[in-house]
Amino acid sequence: MIQVAGKVTSNRKVKPGYYLMAVKCPVIAKKAKPGQFLTIRCGNSTTPLLRRPFGFHRIGPSGFEILYERIGKGTTFLSGLKAGDEIDVLGPLGNGFSVPKGKKDFIIVAGGIGVAPLVSLAESLAKIKKAEVCAVIGARSGKALLCEDHFKKIGIKTMAATDDGTCGKKCLATGVLSEFLAGEKGPRPVIFACGPGPMLKATAHIAKERGLECYVSLEENIACGVGACLGCAIKTRSGYKLVCKDGPVFNAKEIIW
Ligand SMILES: Cc1cc2nc3c(=O)[nH]c(=O)nc-3n(C[C@H](O)[C@H](O)[C@H](O)COP(=O)(O)OP(=O)(O)OC[C@H]3O[C@@H](n4cnc5c(N)ncnc54)[C@H](O)[C@@H]3O)c2cc1C
Ligand code: FES
Repeated sequence: MIQVAGKVTSNRKVKPGYYLMAVKCPVIAKKAKPGQFLTIRCGNSTTPLLRRPFGFHRIGPSGFEILYERIGKGTTFLSGLKAGDEIDVLGPLGNGFSVPKGKKDFIIVAGGIGVAPLVSLAESLAKIKKAEVCAVIGARSGKALLCEDHFKKIGIKTMAATDDGTCGKKCLATGVLSEFLAGEKGPRPVIFACGPGPMLKATAHIAKERGLECYVSLEENIACGVGACLGCAIKTRSGYKLVCKDGPVFNAKEIIW
C-alpha cells in the first residue's frame, strides 16, 4: 500500500450524476488488481475528514480510472477536479477478485455504481483464452445504466435490466440472471457481483440454489481503510472479517447475510 500524489489527467461527466476520472499514478497502477480499491482525500481542508474509497474501474501501466457517483461532499469535491490537479491517493487496498483456476465461464452481475470495479475484472477475464464472459447490468433507469457499451466492445454478451424498463428488461438484475441461468446448458459459470446489498444477497441465493461459485464485492462504510479501526467488520462463517482488509471481495457462501 502506497500513499502518493496522483495527477488527474481527465475528469468528465459520463451520465447525469456519474463521472469518470483518469489519474496518472504508475506506482499504484503497477500493483493494483481488479477488485482492490484505493482511498482518496476528497478535500483541501479537514472536511470531509475521512478519505473516500473507490474501486479501480480500469487499470493501465501508468495510471487508473475511477467511475463514481456524485452523492455527497467527497464526490462533489472530486467532480470539480480538472486535468492537472493533484489528489492524495492511498492504495491498492483490499484483496481483489481471484479467478478460480481452470474456469472459463463467468457471469458478471452489476447493480448501479457497483459496475465500476467490475470493468477491470471483465477486461482481465476477457483475456483468458477461450473464456466465455457474460454480464448482467442493472440500474434504476437507462439514464443510470453504465458501461453497457464498454462491456460489448470487449466482446462480452451483455444483458441490461432497469427498474423503469427504459433500457433492457423491466426487472431487477437478479431477474435477468435467473432467467439466463435457467436457459444455460453449458459449463457451470462462476459469478462475480458488485452492487447494493439486497442484490448481492439475492445473487448469493441464486448461486447457492444452483451450486455455483459466487464472489461478491461489498461496499461497507470504510473509515481507515487499512484494518485499524474495525469499523467495517461483517459476520462470516469463520467469525468477524474486515471488509477493507479481508475483502472487499468475499466468497458469497462465507457471508452470514
Ligand atoms: C470498497 C469500496 C469501493 C467503492 N467503490 C466505489 C466506486 O468505484 N464508485 C463509487 O461511486 N462509489 C464507490 N464506493 C462508495 C463510495 O466510497 C461512496 O459513495 C463515497 O465514499 C461517498 O462519499 P461522499 O462524501 O460523496 O458522500 P457522503 O456525503 O459521505 O455520504 C453519502 C452516502 O455514501 C455512503 N458513504 C459515505 N462514506 C462512505 C465510505 N467511507 N465508505 C462507503 N460508503 C460511504 C453512505 O451510505 C452515505 O449515506 C465504494 C465503497 C467501498 C467501500
Ligand atoms: S475501515 Fe477501518 S478497519 Fe476497515
